[in-house]
Amino acid sequence: MNTPLIETIALTDLHPATDTFLVDVHEGLGQAQKAIPAKYFYDARGSYLFDQITKLEEYYPTRTEMGIMKAHIDAMIERMGPQCLLVEYGSGSSLKTRILLDHLQQPAGYVPIDISKEHLLRSAEALALAYPGLPIRPICADYTTAFQLPDANGARPVVYFPGSTIGNFEPEEARAFLQRIVQIVGAGGGMLIGVDLRKEVPIIEAAYNDAQGVTAAFNKNVLARINSELGGTFDLNCFRHHAFFNATHSRIEMHLESLGDQCVRVADRYFPFRYGETILTEYSYKYTLEAFASLVASAGFEVEKVWMDEDHLFSVQYLVAR
Ligand SMILES: C[S@@+](CC[C@H](N)C(=O)[O-])C[C@H]1O[C@@H](n2cnc3c(N)ncnc32)[C@H](O)[C@@H]1O
Repeated sequence: MNTPLIETIALTDLHPATDTFLVDVHEGLGQAQKAIPAKYFYDARGSYLFDQITKLEEYYPTRTEMGIMKAHIDAMIERMGPQCLLVEYGSGSSLKTRILLDHLQQPAGYVPIDISKEHLLRSAEALALAYPGLPIRPICADYTTAFQLPDANGARPVVYFPGSTIGNFEPEEARAFLQRIVQIVGAGGGMLIGVDLRKEVPIIEAAYNDAQGVTAAFNKNVLARINSELGGTFDLNCFRHHAFFNATHSRIEMHLESLGDQCVRVADRYFPFRYGETILTEYSYKYTLEAFASLVASAGFEVEKVWMDEDHLFSVQYLVAR
């Protein structure tokens, strides 16, 4: 963890300040349904735990998406075209990105964007070693906010948004996010996106309730962060991970449930919890192809192509801005 970063990697750091974290936690815990935004899962430990989740037997999305990418990479690359600037939102470990980088024709550069700074830099460093000569310009930012992309000598940006991270947005937020991407790629520009599909509930619920408890540790990591960064007094043993599929809204809901009546302090504010009361920590929407097509259409995109695995668990889609 302490090796010096490769000098060629210049990080643009627009990382949200700690006081934003405090304001969001105070506001979220003050609501009738207590909630903490999912983006706060991701410090170095949260990113590590997410990577562990992706390797779990129950967690079908990552291996399925990888399989779709590998099976259809030529068709994807043809649509993305030569000399593009690959811009990835929520890049994490950039593992699926390597499938693209192995095939893209003379990419102008790679811009990974992620909120988890240390993990972003380590991933960029690993990519720089694997792809010498590829300009890599990581941006540590909250991608729900507006920010400038680096100028890459006028290269055409193509956006990559894998992992069904789009599912973490509520539909209105997803629309606003996609509208910003339309502005970035411009008319005729493209976006390659991974979208998890609606399917039998037991398959979905198992993916968020693994037997080893890694997802539970990931969920509780946000409490650990509040304790260490904001002076919180959460006892992690007094909360349990609870994830279920809400069929009405077609989404997984991840909560932390209080195992007793208790009071928790975060900085200068106290928050009472009743037995069984929950903190909502994440949504993960599961789309039908029709619902997703209608969402992207409302944001100014058209679905040009959908690739799926044979069981139709997951989709990778190429969207074109109108
Ligand atoms: C579900 S993980 C997906 C990681 C990777 N793209 C994959 O497919 O395995 C979501 C990623 O988005 C990042 N992230 C979550 N919310 C974010 C935000 N608001 N701004 C920037 N990055 C965010 C996390 O740090 C994490 O790396």
